[in-house]
Amino acid sequence: MKHRIAIIYGTTEGQTEKIADHMVDLFRQQGVEATPYNIKELPGDFSPTGYDGLIVGGSVHAGNYPKKIARRAREWAPDLAEMPSAFYSVSLTESHDTEEARREVSELVDTFLEETRWRPALVASFAGALKFSRYGFFKRKLMKNIAERATGEAVDPRRDYEYTDWTSVDQFVEEFIRHLEGRGAQDLGAERRPSAL
Ligand SMILES: Cc1cc2nc3c(=O)[nH]c(=O)nc-3n(C[C@H](O)[C@H](O)[C@H](O)COP(=O)(O)O)c2cc1C
Repeated sequence: MKHRIAIIYGTTEGQTEKIADHMVDLFRQQGVEATPYNIKELPGDFSPTGYDGLIVGGSVHAGNYPKKIARRAREWAPDLAEMPSAFYSVSLTESHDTEEARREVSELVDTFLEETRWRPALVASFAGALKFSRYGFFKRKLMKNIAERATGEAVDPRRDYEYTDWTSVDQFVEEFIRHLEGRGAQDLGAERRPSAL
């Protein structure tokens, strides 16, 4: 029987949505019926129980994931404990290849999972994008400064930057399908390490 899953995402400038849409295409190619939902448009009575699996994604702004994502993940945690579920984080920090950046992202994700009391079978962290074309004047200045300080390189606010590693996204989808089919690492008895990003 065809598996049915939902991907719920919280996005501000659209990169988390783009990643969700990419996943949906891949799931459908693999015979999984995947439906994306922007958390802002999610019906209040939505329940994960109508699905075989659930993926939740959120982007980081000022050190936080979208509040609505955290609230609903906490609400769904008991149901999610009974089915394959996964969380994906989207941030600029993930694009920085340093020990400090890895620690920062790991702490963000761990805090989110502790607060929501959700233990997804799969956790991934994807690098996001800098979408200067969608920022207003102040956000453009702020993000240029933050990005240059973090990378030590000049950033041109007249163009957009995309750091997402699409191969990692594809691997995440493949791994989730293994969980749906009961062949995931956790299902095979391996140690569950949600914080190992
Ligand atoms: C105002 C603002 C604040 C941000 N704060 C953070 C942050 O604290 N840490 C981080 O890693 N990335 C931060 N980012 C980068 C976003 O996480 C990144 O642009 C991501 O791709 C946004 O995803 P979205 O388009 O789905 O909202 C920030 C971006 C903006 C515009």
